[in-house]
Order: sequence, then C-alpha cells, then structure tokens
Amino acid sequence: MITKPKGTYDLLGVDAKISNYINHEIEDFMINYNYEYIRTPVFESTELFHRTVGDGTDIVTKETYDFKDRGDRNITLRPEGTAGVVRSVIENKLYGNKNDPIKLYYNETMYRYERPQSGRFREFTQFGIEVFNSDDALIDAEVISLGYNLLVSLGLDDVVVKINTLGDASSRENYTNALVSYFKPHINDLCEDCQKRIKTNPLRILDCKVDKNSEVLKNAPKISDYISKESKERFNKLKTYLDNLDINYEVDENIVRGLDYYDECVWEYMLDDGIALGGGGRYNSLVENLGGPYLPGIGFALGIERIILKLKEKISDKKLENMIDVYIMSVSDEEKIYALKISQDLRLNNVITEINGNNLSLKSQFKVADTLNAKFLIILKNEDLQKGLITVKDNITKEEVKVDESEIVDYILGNI
Ligand code: HAM
Repeated sequence: MITKPKGTYDLLGVDAKISNYINHEIEDFMINYNYEYIRTPVFESTELFHRTVGDGTDIVTKETYDFKDRGDRNITLRPEGTAGVVRSVIENKLYGNKNDPIKLYYNETMYRYERPQSGRFREFTQFGIEVFNSDDALIDAEVISLGYNLLVSLGLDDVVVKINTLGDASSRENYTNALVSYFKPHINDLCEDCQKRIKTNPLRILDCKVDKNSEVLKNAPKISDYISKESKERFNKLKTYLDNLDINYEVDENIVRGLDYYDECVWEYMLDDGIALGGGGRYNSLVENLGGPYLPGIGFALGIERIILKLKEKISDKKLENMIDVYIMSVSDEEKIYALKISQDLRLNNVITEINGNNLSLKSQFKVADTLNAKFLIILKNEDLQKGLITVKDNITKEEVKVDESEIVDYILGNI
C-alpha cells in the first residue's frame, strides 16, 4: 500500500467539518473587515525566502523544501505566505494611492521540513492577512484585534496575545549588537543551535526552547532598554488602543519571532499550553529591501491545524452533528422524478436536502434519514402525487401533514 508522505495528513471526518466551519468564519470576517483575497504560487524562487524570511533563520537553514526544476532553476515550496504576497505586491505594483491601506488575505498550504508532532506538520495551512501602505498604530491594533476576535468567535476565548516591540531598524540593530557582546563570553553555556545563532540570528536565542530557563538567558540584556523614544511612544499608543478594544494581551519581551523581516510591534496568539496558534508583526522595510518603493506592511498568520486541534477539544458534539433540513423519500420511478425536482428547488433555496440515491427500500430510507438527523421528511407517494399533494413529516415531533405540491418549498422554508 502506498501511504501519505511523513508530516502530511488527509483532511476528513470531524476535522474536515471543523475546517469548513473555520473557513466560513474567516470569509465572514474578511467581508466585514474589508480584505481582498490573494493567491500566490505554491513555489517561488529560492532567493525570495533568503531575502525575506532571512538566511540565518531556522526556516531557511533547516526547513525549506528546495529543488531544482527541469530548467535548472532553484525553486522552494513556500514555507510561509508573507514573502510571496510582498513579491506579488511589487511585481503587480499594488501600491494603491497615498490614502488607502491595501488589505489582503490568504488561506493556503505551506511547507516546512520539520519534525512532525501534534500540531506540527510538513504540509500545513495558514490563514494570513497582510496590510500595506499604512504605518499607523491604529492599523497595528486593527490587525492584532482581528486575529484575536476571529479566534474568540471560533470558540477559543482563552487566547492571550503576547505582544512586544522590536523598535525601529536602528533600535533592533543596537539591541542585536548588545546581545552578541553579551552572549559571546557565555557561548559554551548555550545549546548547539544557539551557538550558531550568535552569528546568524542572535535575537532567536531569546526564544530558544532548549535554553529557555538558563541563567544566561534570564540575565540577557532587555530589549526595552534599546528601543527608541518614538518606538516606545508608538507601542504605548498601540496598548491604549488594545485596552480600549478589550483585547486580552500581555507584554512579553521574549517574543522576538523567528523571521528576519520584522520591526516595531510583534505578537503571538497563545493558549496556556504555550503553543502558538499564530503570530505576526510589522515589517516596514521589507518591500523596499525586495526592490519596491517604501511601503510599510504588517500582518499575521494563524495555523489552521492547531486551531482545529484545539476546537476539537472544545466544540460540543451538537455543533458538529450532521443536521440536514430535509430528506426526500422515493421508491417508484415517478416518485424519483419528483424527488430530484423537489430537491433541486429546495437546494436552490438554501435548504440542506438529501435524497435516496441508492435505490433503498422505504424502511432503509427512514434509517438513513435518522442517521443524517433530518429535520423534515418528504415522503413521496404515487397516490398523493396524483392528487397534487405531498406528505411532509416533522422528524422531531413526528407530526404529518399533506401539502399542496406547488407550495412545498414555501412550506419547508416557513418551518425549518
Ligand atoms: P510563523 O510564526 O512562522 O509566522 O507561523 C505562523 C503560524 O503558523 C504559527 O504560529 C503556527 O500556528 C503555524 N505553523 C508554523 N509552522 C507550522 C507547522 N510546521 N505545522 C503546523 N502549523 C505551523 C509566519 O509564517 C509569518 N509569515 C506570519 C506573518 C504574516 N507575519 C507577518 N505577516
């Protein structure tokens, strides 16, 4: 038997239902917050991720799926969504005019060669948003609160947003230099990965899972001592906005994020088990660094598999139950013609409808209708149809009525 590749999964059963539920909620949120959908390629030039996510990051050094295509080009399966969106904004000159933020969202598969475990896959799905052309702390608050509100509305009301500021580019550089000077004499006390990170990505040492509780890390310089006055003021403004929106957030100076493109605010959506459901931040230099004009940006991505996992523990069975509106029962050829036509009329009127698609006996159809939790049964009978009537049974109260054939859709619409 050929089996699925390690780190992948088939979306089916309850997980598929929860995934559909999440996607509906996302679509509603995107309409209300006025975001536009964007889809970029699953694979991009390898160089794109080196120049955005960063050469020294774990993602680029250890986790990308890289290959040469048949034309000898260096190609990488996207490990995240921001790089492709930024490339597309530049390539398609989606710069907007001076006054409009450009608000985009995606909900796509990403690829990272990670060690598979609960909530960690090699093919996974991110819902992400990216906003360009605004450098206002008000937009920071809108973006952070959008993700928070979405998670709460999905049912994850114990989520906390851990926020931090990396300051502007020069604050970040000063802080990075201070970290390197501090860690160098302690290099032997750090884990193997962090020993390399001193050269490649010193900020990442701060959120190392291995060295987390070591004295060296606890006594490291604090980022807040290196943040410029403007960045501090901006961060205070953001906190005022978040307070006013009732967002459950905490400042956590260890949130530095694993990707190179951030400046100013960064954040992660966490549950108390320490697993990040998502994360994001501002990236005001990224578009320019990739060859575009100065165009500030901000965004986040949520890991859909982790949300499914958490919702599965929480959502009541009721919400996930199969609940269809109508099951239409038919046996004879004439009844089947009616069943098909009525099912079409009902479905086109947003009534969830199922028919006997397997030539079942009447008795078996009753059983199927019960397993589908049908609210109403339409029981087609030749003798009724000759009189222009249709039998409808309320499958909960068990009451039966005969309805005029021409009024069947209205009757169902009026009663479900
Ligand atoms: P990230 O923190 O690398 O950020 O990923 C965001 C989320 O994707 C994580 O918090 C996690 O829920 C999910 N995720 C990451 N790796 C895996 C995996 N192997 N299996 C399952 N879920 C995973 C970014 O990707 C940035 N592009 C976010 C962003 C958008 N920043 C600005 N705009």
